[in-house]
Amino acid sequence: MNKIPRGTLQEQTFYEQVGGEETFRRLVHRFYQGVAEDPLLRPMYPEEDLGPAEERLALFLMQYWGGPRTYSDGRGHPRLRMRHAPFTVDRAAHDAWLKHMRDAVDSLGLAEEHETQLWNYLTYAAASMINTAD
Ligand code: HEM
Repeated sequence: MNKIPRGTLQEQTFYEQVGGEETFRRLVHRFYQGVAEDPLLRPMYPEEDLGPAEERLALFLMQYWGGPRTYSDGRGHPRLRMRHAPFTVDRAAHDAWLKHMRDAVDSLGLAEEHETQLWNYLTYAAASMINTAD
C-alpha cells in the first residue's frame, strides 16, 4: 500500500504555488510598465511616481492569494470598488487595464492551471470595477 504518512501533505496557498512575492512583484512591475506608456490609463493615476501604486497593487494581490497581510496592515479593508470611485472606470479603461495585465500574466510563464486561475480572477475583478453606465 502506498500510504502517505500523516503530516507530510502540505497545503500550499496559491501565493506559494506560483512562487511567492517575487512572482507578484514581477507581475505588477510589468503591468505598470504598460500603464506608464498608456495614454488613457497614465493620466488617471494621481501621483507622478507610479512606484507607490505599484506597491499597493502588489501587496493587495499577494494578500488576496494567501500571502502576507501587509496590504491590510497598512491600508485597512481593501474596499476596492470604493477606492476606485474617484476614477472613471469605463469599458475603455477596463479593456486597457486588462490588456496590460494580460501581457504581464503572459510574461510570468506560469503553469496553465495557475495562469487560468489568476486570469479568471483578474477578468472578474476588472469587470466588477466598472463604475460608469456605458
Ligand atoms: C478595471 C480597470 C481599473 C482601473 C482603470 C484602475 C485604476 C486604478 C487607479 C487610477 C488607482 C489609483 C492608484 C493608486 O493610488 O493606487 C487604482 C488603485 C488600486 N487598484 Fe485599480 N484599477 C482597475 C482595476 C483594478 C482591479 C481589477 C484590481 C484588483 C484586482 C485593482 C486593484 C487596485 C488596488 C489594490 C489599488 C490601490 C488601493 C489603495 O490601497 O488605495 N484595480 N486603480
